[in-house]
Amino acid sequence: MIKPDGVRRGLTPEILARIARKGYRVVGLKQMTISRQIAENHYGEHRERPFFGELVDFITGGPVVAIALEGNEAIAGWRAMMGATNPANAAPGTIRADFATTTGENVTHGSDSAGSAERELGLFFAAGELLD
Ligand code: TYD
Ligand code: MG
Repeated sequence: MIKPDGVRRGLTPEILARIARKGYRVVGLKQMTISRQIAENHYGEHRERPFFGELVDFITGGPVVAIALEGNEAIAGWRAMMGATNPANAAPGTIRADFATTTGENVTHGSDSAGSAERELGLFFAAGELLD
């Protein structure tokens, strides 16, 4: 996902270009505004964390771009392309190192396991919106 800060800053083409250069196949793509209910579900694992309220406010505060990627080891590979959660710790050349300065607004999201990918794809895409 390209988060609201990334969309607002016009980084969508840059990020889609990186995905294309990497060689992942985009099987789902849409710009959308996330409801609080979906945001709270999406980030449910963080419900008890002190930053949860701000995180939900942020992710619902403007349109995002939801992207379904397919490719060899795409879950780990996309997370590697994003870099560390805190941009200050992200390796040079990663999206978060190159385009973000704070953990709270770190430009992109990536599912962290096959299980979370399946769950999150179900939150953001309806049946029929993904290519075979
Ligand atoms: P997390 O799942 O730990 O990171 P990632 O996005 O790399 O999977 O956290 C989800 C988001 O919550 C993170 O991208 C930014 C936000 N967040 C904070 O605002 N403060 C924090 O201390 C942490 C750990 C995360
Ligand atoms: Mg996470």
